[in-house]
Amino acid sequence: MGNKMNYKIVVNKNKRYDKRDFSNIELKEVVNSLHEKYLLEKRTLKAFLSLKKDLENKNIFIDIVDGIRTFDEQEKIIEDYPIEYGEEYVKKYVAPIGSSEHHTGLCFDVGLIIDGKLVSENDELLEKENLFEKVIEILPDHGLILRYPKDKEKVTGYGYEPWHYRYVGKNTARLIMSNRLTLEEYDNLYNKSGVILVNKPKGITSRDAVDRISNIFDTNKVGHNGTLDPLAEGLLVVTINKACKINELLICEDKEYIAEVKVGLETDTLDLEGKIEKISNKKIDKDILNNLFEKFPRRYLQKVPSYSAVKVNGKKLYEYARNDIKIELPEREVIIKELELLDYREDFFKFRCVVSKGTYIRSLIKDMGDFICIPCTMSSLIRTKQGKFLLSEALNLNDISINSKLINIGDALDIPIKEINDNDYKLVINGSKINNNYNIKDKVLFVKNCDFIAIYKTIDKQLFCYKMLK
Ligand code: DAL
Ligand code: ZN
Repeated sequence: MGNKMNYKIVVNKNKRYDKRDFSNIELKEVVNSLHEKYLLEKRTLKAFLSLKKDLENKNIFIDIVDGIRTFDEQEKIIEDYPIEYGEEYVKKYVAPIGSSEHHTGLCFDVGLIIDGKLVSENDELLEKENLFEKVIEILPDHGLILRYPKDKEKVTGYGYEPWHYRYVGKNTARLIMSNRLTLEEYDNLYNKSGVILVNKPKGITSRDAVDRISNIFDTNKVGHNGTLDPLAEGLLVVTINKACKINELLICEDKEYIAEVKVGLETDTLDLEGKIEKISNKKIDKDILNNLFEKFPRRYLQKVPSYSAVKVNGKKLYEYARNDIKIELPEREVIIKELELLDYREDFFKFRCVVSKGTYIRSLIKDMGDFICIPCTMSSLIRTKQGKFLLSEALNLNDISINSKLINIGDALDIPIKEINDNDYKLVINGSKINNNYNIKDKVLFVKNCDFIAIYKTIDKQLFCYKMLK
């Protein structure tokens, strides 16, 4: 994660270039038609070349006229600027040292080849606005954006430059260009993290739901905290960006479900989509159900379903099952914290349960069937609660947008939040242990000036880093 190039990083007059952000950059050389050499980050260069080629087919000819610049080179540009251009002009087009995006290697300037001559002067290029409009239109197809659009001087700090393009990747470029954003505006809108509660409909996988959220929030850092099969619906607790760091805490929370059961058959998948393996015309009645709901064990070793993604010897169980390979199913201790009958008929019942992490409801239903000696199969499943989150608070996928409110890490967790003192801050920021002067029993979320720093855990009388959030 940490050593990947962040193609969306902002550099401008307010956020100066920091070389640590670009320590992993891979530069490549490109030579233009005047035999001038420029260096560009490798994907940026690829994007330039594909843009150039695409435009040639449209009889528009561009060439690179500037790439990465060092601070020294920028200093020279500033010094060499003809004085007659005036202060206003310089402010509009010439970046102070450290404030030019050209320090990053992720942008380049193009000139136009007109009548066989490479035109690169700003004034001449501005006259060719109609040509540039055609170039700008196809930038996102190459993962590029127009970095300094018209009428956005206040946001970018610089005047309109139809020749300066920045590589951000295709998905992001499409979002930025179709919504007429600047990189600054995109950053303000999209640079967020937190938890969102999603109501997953039947028929899609949890991965499908995550992919939808990934697209909406334009990030690959999205996690769901407990799979719901395509047949199941209900609450998915989805984490976005930095909030993914608390996945392992959210995943451990108890879950509440409402399940429906078809009585009289059992399938290989333990739901109604599978192949029938047992069939019986035995009916259920009040006595059988009373006995079941009173006596069913509340803590037992549950066999995971053969159609599940649990791995044995490096392979998923459903891969064995699909190939008819019998394999010993792993067992896990599960705790059934609440079990309540809601409705029944002679071949059907419906119940609510609250279960510990890792409990399979399909298996629970099979085990209930074994308990009453009548085969049972899950016919419907809704997750209604996970930890403190309720399905009634969840959003439908179609109603989620970049503007949807996210729950912050502090509100999502059920642990005390403490403002950390200056001395401890120096230790916590490095993940070092500290004394438990905060009277913490288990875990604590440390904040400093409204910023989430780390989760710590008590061991004896000290606090140890459990999860760094910075
Ligand atoms: N000409 C733009 C502002 C730059 O130097 O980054
Ligand atoms: Zn430029």
